[in-house]
Amino acid sequence: MSEINRQYLLKQRPVGRIKESDFERKDSPVPEPGEGEVLVRNLYLSLDPAMRGWMNEGKSYVPPVQLGEVMRGLTVGRVVRSRDDSFSEGDFVTGILGWQDYAAVPGKQLGRAVTEPSLTANLSLMGIAGRTAYFGLLDICDPKAGETVLVSGAAGSVGSIVGQIARIKGCRVIGIAGTDAKCAWLVDELGFDGAVNYKTEDLYKALRAKCPDGVDVFFDNVGGETLDTVLRLINLRARISICGAISTYNATEMPPGPQNIRSLLVNRARMEGFIIFDYADRFAEADAALADWHKDGRLKIAEDIVDGLDEAPRAINRLFDGTNTGKLIVRIADEAG
Ligand SMILES: NC(=O)c1ccc[n+]([C@@H]2O[C@H](COP(=O)([O-])OP(=O)(O)OC[C@H]3O[C@@H](n4cnc5c(N)ncnc54)[C@H](OP(=O)(O)O)[C@@H]3O)[C@@H](O)[C@H]2O)c1
Repeated sequence: MSEINRQYLLKQRPVGRIKESDFERKDSPVPEPGEGEVLVRNLYLSLDPAMRGWMNEGKSYVPPVQLGEVMRGLTVGRVVRSRDDSFSEGDFVTGILGWQDYAAVPGKQLGRAVTEPSLTANLSLMGIAGRTAYFGLLDICDPKAGETVLVSGAAGSVGSIVGQIARIKGCRVIGIAGTDAKCAWLVDELGFDGAVNYKTEDLYKALRAKCPDGVDVFFDNVGGETLDTVLRLINLRARISICGAISTYNATEMPPGPQNIRSLLVNRARMEGFIIFDYADRFAEADAALADWHKDGRLKIAEDIVDGLDEAPRAINRLFDGTNTGKLIVRIADEAG
């Protein structure tokens, strides 16, 4: 066991794109668990676009990370020492344990990690990504067989799962992504019916060609101009799930709001935001379905694993420059070690 606990603290609030210098590494002693606490060795850290919002000041669905505080993050880890009877040394757990090697926390703040199909599945298939895709699509949009489902950020961790669930439900699925290679992967590997590269194609024209019957369901991870363009293509009683708006997370000045809002009115359509934590009491339902679809080969999971906690301050920007495919994860320590 290492003697040092590397911790990445939020040093300053980013302006625009996250800089490495927005974080500070502090080497602390490994903490001792108090009564009722569990000492966890973090093995994997999930990197999420939401982290950009947590670094800002201001009102949101969770309080901001404070300056000087360990950067917030969901991890999977192994119990090293336990002073809570419900956990034993060697157990695998998940929790919001942050960008650090070790955390000593009350046992009630931990969840049990699955080991099948893998430990990283706690951050992808049965983590925030899979659950967000499941509820954000099925609960908010109720897609019906034969409908056209359009997904932005389609080659990302949430988007790639959304598209595959929509296919499982018998929908026609079109994805929007930022490279030709991602578009080819969506169609050739994940079974999407089509994909559009928003960086090289005229988005409106390309989507009109790929969605000749219009869009019944739009799962939006991107916001901004993409959302505005899709509003022009929606059908009567369309449902739009506002999952994220990553195109605006680094913006120092907000782009103008959607100009095509009237399309919601004309089409009696619904646009609804959601936060996955509101579904916590139904996570087991999502996990069971996702695990089954994965087991029978209908749902593929892509993970993009970066080695080393010290890479996290750089790696997080891969979410914003689009160099990740699937769930971006940092491997902090060896599972077996
Ligand atoms: N509502 C919730 O509870 C909830 C929960 C989890 C995640 N989310 C949201 O879901 C979205 C996806 O999250 P994720 O974890 O699955 O990340 P991800 O999709 O794996 O990674 C982000 C992707 O966004 C795309 N992107 C980045 N900047 C963009 C821009 N300016 N315009 C268009 N696309 C851009 C990039 O792909 P390209 O190469 O295609 O550009 C990048 O790979 C995010 O908006 C996130 O905030 C919401």
